[in-house]
Amino acid sequence: MQTPTLDHGPILQTAFSFWSSKVLLTAVEFDLFTTLGTRRLTGTELGAELALHPRAISDFFDSLVAMKFLDRDGDGPTSIYFNTPASALFLDRTSPRYIGGMLIMLNDRLFKFWNDLPTALRTGSPQNEVKHGQKGIFEELYSEIPKLEQFMGAMAGLSRINFETLAHKFDFSKYKTLCDIGGATGLLSIEAAKQHPTLKCISFDLPPVAPIASRHIAAAGLADRITTASGDFFKDPLPKADVITMGMILHDWNLEKKMHLIRAAYDALPPGGALIAIEALIDDQRRENLMGLLMSLNMLIEFGDAFDYSGADFRGWCAEVGFTRFEVIHLAGPSSAAIAYK
Ligand SMILES: C[S@@+](CC[C@H](N)C(=O)[O-])C[C@H]1O[C@@H](n2cnc3c(N)ncnc32)[C@H](O)[C@@H]1O
Repeated sequence: MQTPTLDHGPILQTAFSFWSSKVLLTAVEFDLFTTLGTRRLTGTELGAELALHPRAISDFFDSLVAMKFLDRDGDGPTSIYFNTPASALFLDRTSPRYIGGMLIMLNDRLFKFWNDLPTALRTGSPQNEVKHGQKGIFEELYSEIPKLEQFMGAMAGLSRINFETLAHKFDFSKYKTLCDIGGATGLLSIEAAKQHPTLKCISFDLPPVAPIASRHIAAAGLADRITTASGDFFKDPLPKADVITMGMILHDWNLEKKMHLIRAAYDALPPGGALIAIEALIDDQRRENLMGLLMSLNMLIEFGDAFDYSGADFRGWCAEVGFTRFEVIHLAGPSSAAIAYK
């Protein structure tokens, strides 16, 4: 009998993947894709604009070419670099579909916190800024405007495509009002209001977030249909609405707090109303959605006792509170919307 040939490639690919991750994150930190924009530059020209050492230029840019985040015409020193269509769309800061905010936060915060994964696995304790201070993560991040803006940019980067897809796939036409809990920049409300011209929305978040949301809502020209509301969702009742959305909210908390939020949503909804949770929902058997599972490890690193969950978990918790009907709609990539109807 022949021994099957086993491939060690996947082991090495995963083991070394932090190298490619760091190259892409650094390119975004240097704003390489925005600097290039629609131009076509030699390595020397682009390297000079980014203030790179000559030794670094071709290895850095050609790694990005090999990863297909940059394109190149020709070979050698006279070759010309330019953005791929996807890099131009998602990584050029001037594009309306820029998602680089998430990559900035990955590079600035999470890259170093994940180095302490072993400690998190042994202690169950957060490994972020909270480790060295007394404050909770949101208090810590929101204590300085640049940190708050960075977090808001990261959330918009990660959620933009999910919210666009939700606005297309979920039938909001049956409902008059929406309240987005932990609405951050107001992006979910903006996407839903853009697609559904009669929908009125509230973006609810902690007080420091309101000015940022108001700025984005005004820039989208939707201030007549989207308002902001400030409060603490553990202390204040949620604003009443036909649809309550929670984008990456439940995964930030332990089970007791998750249940508090689900009950608060139930109380704020009318009969027939819908609670929609948008997450990298883990598949029910916990075998497939690697991003959901890694996101849950990230919640260990950020919060300690917080965790991501499956559609079946969501359904069980919502049924306990009184919701009667459930569905899951796939959004983009690893993300889905878990929906419970009252
Ligand atoms: C992980 S972010 C998600 C942002 C956005 N929903 C999305 O999916 O991109 C969590 C949001 O919850 C908000 N938040 C955290 N604690 C809160 C509280 N106690 N009351 C209200 N909002 C809170 C944060 O300010 C932040 O905007």
